[in-house]
Amino acid sequence: MYTYAHPGLKDPEYYVPGLPIDYVAQRYRISPDDIAKLGSAENPYGTSPMAKAAVGDALDKMYTYASWTAEPLREKLADTYGYEPDNFVCGAGETEIIAMILRAFAAMGERILMPGPCFPMYHLFAEAEGRIPDMAHEATDRTTMALDVDVYIDAIKPEHRIVFLTNPHSPSGTWMTEAEVRRVIEAAPHALVVLDEAYVHYSGGPGYIHLAHDYDNLAVLRTFSKVYGLAGLRLGFGVAHPDIIKALLAVKPTWNIGQLQIIGGVAALDDTAFVQKTIDTIIDSRTYVEGLFAETLDRFRFVPGSMSNFFLIEIMDPDIDSNQVFDGLLERGVIVKDGSISFRGLEKRFMRSDVNFREKMDQLVAALADLP
Ligand SMILES: Cc1ncc(COP(=O)(O)O)c(C=O)c1O
Repeated sequence: MYTYAHPGLKDPEYYVPGLPIDYVAQRYRISPDDIAKLGSAENPYGTSPMAKAAVGDALDKMYTYASWTAEPLREKLADTYGYEPDNFVCGAGETEIIAMILRAFAAMGERILMPGPCFPMYHLFAEAEGRIPDMAHEATDRTTMALDVDVYIDAIKPEHRIVFLTNPHSPSGTWMTEAEVRRVIEAAPHALVVLDEAYVHYSGGPGYIHLAHDYDNLAVLRTFSKVYGLAGLRLGFGVAHPDIIKALLAVKPTWNIGQLQIIGGVAALDDTAFVQKTIDTIIDSRTYVEGLFAETLDRFRFVPGSMSNFFLIEIMDPDIDSNQVFDGLLERGVIVKDGSISFRGLEKRFMRSDVNFREKMDQLVAALADLP
């Protein structure tokens, strides 16, 4: 069949999201209430109540175009984080900002460095328009699954236009110190370093958003999808030197953000009670599930060190692989991520599960224990 897409898109690869509850309920004939959805890292409490109320009150605004730069949100972000509005760019999720960064900072044929494995959007979007992702698989320590910063720094080459870092790291959830992050930024003065802090709240600390004051080759990215419970609203932002933001605004689809997103985001930033409740629950459940694994399971290892709302499970039993575990868990009403399908370079020895309420963690561990 003839297609008009460019040659790089002859056999495109797509992101594989965590499965939705409805699909699993129908396919396996399980009541939706009995399903543990642990493959999308969503907020167990749902949506920020303040964002929900503000969006509800703003429905009448849908007929007007919003400020194309999402100015009220940029102003609120500037107040919240101690920057100026022109230090921010807003996107339909962090995902859109990742796409804009690739377009603005690497031309077709140019190279981009990222950890291997990593959040797949980095390499999928890079490849879709003919940029070359270099995945530093050698920088992943195979026991801790953390990024070895020294090995990663060795992988930085003069031809890299963008260098990605994720903290907490994905898919391991492990944490880099501020000194480590600074070393990477300083080792790549010729590149734009992107620090993806999608899950930073679950570290229990403020993260490194302040570093964009110190470096003009750094963009820090955050999302409203996780701790604010707004994955379905689609909202994220980047903070960087105004010259970086200027370039990003040029490739941004003009009205990428609507009125409801702006209003929801502004309200969510004030919902500190909801944010704190979510963080406390995740941190409590993370310790709880690590203990459960140690007490209950010997065929599966909780890979320690996660500071996020997910963790890696290593399959220690050589007679089963991640495809079988994934299917077996689905039959038992538990949705996780199959590492080998969701993350390039992660073999069939790993699953990734969300941290959720304690009872969902009980359900996960019981289902793993029940596998043949
Ligand atoms: C590491 C990481 N970065 C960015 C995102 C993008 O999130 P969103 O586009 O919903 O803001 C995700 C989502 O799963 C992620 O895991």
